[in-house]
Parts: sequence; C-alpha cells; structure tokens
Amino acid sequence: MITERLKKDLREVSLSVNSVSIKNLQSIVLLKPKLDNGKSVLKAIHQRKTIREISDKKLPFQTLSNLFWAACGVNRKKGPFGIPGRTAATASNSQEIDLYAAFQEGIYYYDAFHHVLVPVVAGDMRKLAIGPGQENFGDKAPIRLIYIADVNRLSNTSGYQEPGLQDPEIQKSYYYIDTGLIAANVYLFAASEGLASWFHNCNKSGLMAKLNLRSDQQVLFGQSVGYPVK
Ligand SMILES: Cc1cc2nc3c(=O)[nH]c(=O)nc-3n(C[C@H](O)[C@H](O)[C@H](O)COP(=O)(O)O)c2cc1C
Repeated sequence: MITERLKKDLREVSLSVNSVSIKNLQSIVLLKPKLDNGKSVLKAIHQRKTIREISDKKLPFQTLSNLFWAACGVNRKKGPFGIPGRTAATASNSQEIDLYAAFQEGIYYYDAFHHVLVPVVAGDMRKLAIGPGQENFGDKAPIRLIYIADVNRLSNTSGYQEPGLQDPEIQKSYYYIDTGLIAANVYLFAASEGLASWFHNCNKSGLMAKLNLRSDQQVLFGQSVGYPVK
C-alpha cells in the first residue's frame, strides 16, 4: 500500500499515478524484474568500472525494466515505518531521491510504486543530463539517469523523526549518500549485464528549468547507461 504522503508527493511533481501522455509520449509500464539474469554480485563487483564510450544501441525492454528496478525499485511491500521498501536504503526510509531518465524521446520520471516510466517533457535533452563541457562525450548513450532530491520529503519524513532531518547540512549528507547508494546499484547492475555505466555531473540549472522543479528539489547528478562501444 502506498501512503497518502507518498501519493501526495507524486502529485506534487505533477505526475499522475495512472496514465500520463505528454505530446506523443505515453506512460511506459515496465516489466516485472527477472531475478535470474546476470552475473553474481561478486563478479559484478569485480567488473564494476566507469565506461564513458557508450553506443547508441537501445536496451531490450526487459533489461531496461530491470535497470530501474535494480536502481531503486520496490522490493518489499512492507518496509520500514509502514511504507514499501526499496532496493536502495534512504535515511529514515524517506525515499527522497527521485529518479528521472533522459531518453532520445524525452525525460521520464520513474514511479517506483507502479514500476512505470511517466513522461515529463518531450524532446531529446540527454545533453542536459551531463555536466557543462562534457555534452558531446558519450552523448549517444540511450539513457541518462538524473538524480533529484526532494528535500521536503526528508523534512516531512513518515520515518524515524530525528533532528538531523531538519538540519540543512545533515539533509545534504543524507541525500548525497542516498544518491550514491542508487548509483552503486546501477553500476553493479550494468557490470552484471555487460553494460556500460558512467556517473557524472549534470546541467543543474538547465534541468531545473526544463523540469519545472520547486526550489526545494535539488538536481544532483546524472548517470549514463548503455552498451559499451566495441
Ligand atoms: C561524485 C562523482 C562525480 C563524478 N563526476 C564525473 C563527471 O562529471 N565527469 C566524469 O567524466 N566522470 C565523473 N565521475 C566518474 C569518476 O571520474 C570515476 O568514477 C573515477 O575516475 C573512478 O573510475 P571508476 O568508476 O572506473 O572506478 C564522477 C564520480 C563520482 C563518484
């Protein structure tokens, strides 16, 4: 069950939990994760590395679905503090990191509770999902993930109330760590599937404007994923 608070959060980022269509983009219902694919965790750790040369070849739909689930999907209906649990830990289970993804077709929001990609803005904005100066590097990657912290979700957590959740410096440490945990899942998933991944900066002001974010949403990083150039 999704709590009222999480439903409200989803509405606040202008996203419907049902079907959304933006221009010619529709919501994409992802496939259930297949858990028997890929290498062992230890082999994936052994092979984890940043690969910046990424081809334009698109991922099969099952692989794409597994990628989002591995990153920060729901892996328990009943997690800490009465809300679903996710594949990546967050402070007080606040689940404050929103995962967006820039594809050739547009930017989508990953609604983990329904395992659906919801369109947010149409058009190829993959160059905004990387730091200024690196726009043309690996720019053919089919997916660029974008990490955005919703600081309001930390301040108003339904998890364990502790003073740090109201302190901007401690909030910052939490949302950077929570981003890193998701990014590590993505790196390991990529290694396990023989994919390339590359964690990097992004054009924060450009994405703030395009995604029409609130001032308490912080654009943090990007991460490109695709097949390595042979
Ligand atoms: C917080 C952070 C920010 C990063 N930013 C960039 C970046 O803007 N551009 C880039 O090319 N690589 C970036 N990287 C990738 C690192 O350069 C890379 O992880 C590091 O050289 C180690 O290489 P490895 O991942 O293959 O072990 C970043 C990595 C981290 C953890």
